[in-house]
Amino acid sequence: MLDPPQVLWLTLSLCHCTLLLPFRCKSMSVTHWNPYWRLAPDVCGKNCFMESARRYAVDKTLSGFSHVDRVESVRLAVVACGPRLEETLTMLKSAVIFSQRALHFHIFAEDDLHSGFKDSLESWPVRFRSKYNYTIYPITFPSDNAKEWKKLFKPCASQRLFLPLILSDVDSLLYVDTDILFLQPVEEIWNFLSMFNSSHMAAMAPEHEEPRIAWYNRFARHPYYGKTGVNSGVMLMNMTRIRAKHFRNDMTPVHLRWVDLLMPLLQKYKLNITWGDQDLLNIIFHHNPEGLFVFPCHWNYRPDHCIYGSNCAAAEQYGVYILHGNRGVYHDDKQPAFRAVYDAIQKYPFGEDPVSSLLRPLEEKLKTTMHTYCGRSSHIFTKKLRESITYIQKDNLNAR
Ligand SMILES: *[C@@H]1O[C@H](CO)[C@@H](O)[C@H](O)[C@H]1NC(C)=O
Ligand SMILES: *[C@@H]1O[C@H](CO)[C@@H](O)[C@H](O)[C@H]1NC(C)=O
Ligand SMILES: *[C@@H]1O[C@H](CO)[C@@H](O)[C@H](O)[C@H]1NC(C)=O
Ligand SMILES: *[C@@H]1O[C@H](CO)[C@@H](O)[C@H](O)[C@H]1NC(C)=O
Repeated sequence: MLDPPQVLWLTLSLCHCTLLLPFRCKSMSVTHWNPYWRLAPDVCGKNCFMESARRYAVDKTLSGFSHVDRVESVRLAVVACGPRLEETLTMLKSAVIFSQRALHFHIFAEDDLHSGFKDSLESWPVRFRSKYNYTIYPITFPSDNAKEWKKLFKPCASQRLFLPLILSDVDSLLYVDTDILFLQPVEEIWNFLSMFNSSHMAAMAPEHEEPRIAWYNRFARHPYYGKTGVNSGVMLMNMTRIRAKHFRNDMTPVHLRWVDLLMPLLQKYKLNITWGDQDLLNIIFHHNPEGLFVFPCHWNYRPDHCIYGSNCAAAEQYGVYILHGNRGVYHDDKQPAFRAVYDAIQKYPFGEDPVSSLLRPLEEKLKTTMHTYCGRSSHIFTKKLRESITYIQKDNLNAR
């Protein structure tokens, strides 16, 4: 007989083989999981700014409330290809609903999606439309290696690596994947920029909190950042610094600029990387760790944080700030709690009362997901959202 921790470990190891043997995991049930794992203090690196993150979250939302600030826009970038139009619009909608700052969207998309973005973004009600401007760009790569970059990982995913070069006059940018949903104002994560020390140039969350079930430390065949790597789905960049920096690397003793670094890195590691551009970012920050500001997991909350039981302590404490429905969970029935949040925001009619038309229907729906591990933690999906909604409700009243 195995005692419970060993059973747990065994089950997890088998489950992680799902990458190779998808049928294996479905027939297994995780029965001995301890849903309240606590993080070892060093799991997310030396610079896990939990406390300051929380302070920011509380203080900054109230200032500038009920009008769009005159200070510089928060710049949000996304890369959309294939069937991602609706998902991307839902991400942008979540930014628009809760933000009180002027926003600028930099949308990189395949040509046939351009009119879809324009039509929707021009059709949103004027009170929301006045919060943002946007620019739509085609997908572009350095011409000599365009083919190679395009086929890396998912189509278009590596576009983000070139944003510092393409948007050469933009100082800072928040890059997000299309499957992100903001459950609080975008400016709260933007405020991390002002907490950067003089060597920080980008901010990301750890790829995992728990090394025993994390991916990089068990499977990666290349260097990665910290103990468990970083996830690039939510990436804040000071691109002025990225463009200026000379990066240490394992190809030449000469420190290379961003523009000169990417292609040699791809050539060296292309046979060993699994998650495309995220792996390249991990390699880069492995060699230049002082450049990375690490924020906690509730700013990039993924199914990994709850599918085997909860392992994001920050989300338990503060609620989920930014939801990341990777692995397609907004569109299938594997993680109904994630899908419920997506559906609620996607269906919410702009301008309707956010409590009765967004929060309540979502809470009802989440009750039907209690049979899943993520559904059992569903209070954390609405904790921050409820606060955000309280603010915009006040805003709605002021606007009448
Ligand atoms: C959008 O651009 C116009 C023209 O440059 C500017 O007047 C307006 O303030 C901008 N709006 C936002 C929300 O940034
Ligand atoms: C790629 O992985 C193989 C097998 O793990 C390893 O021997 C090789 O050194 C790796 N290549 C690089 C560039 O790290
Ligand atoms: C980005 O870094 C540059 C150079 O250090 C600095 O001048 C700029 O203010 C920074 N941007 C933000 C938004 O902090
Ligand atoms: C900035 O913080 C990082 C940890 O996030 C640290 O490695 C680096 O040395 C710091 N840089 C300076 C100039 O203090």
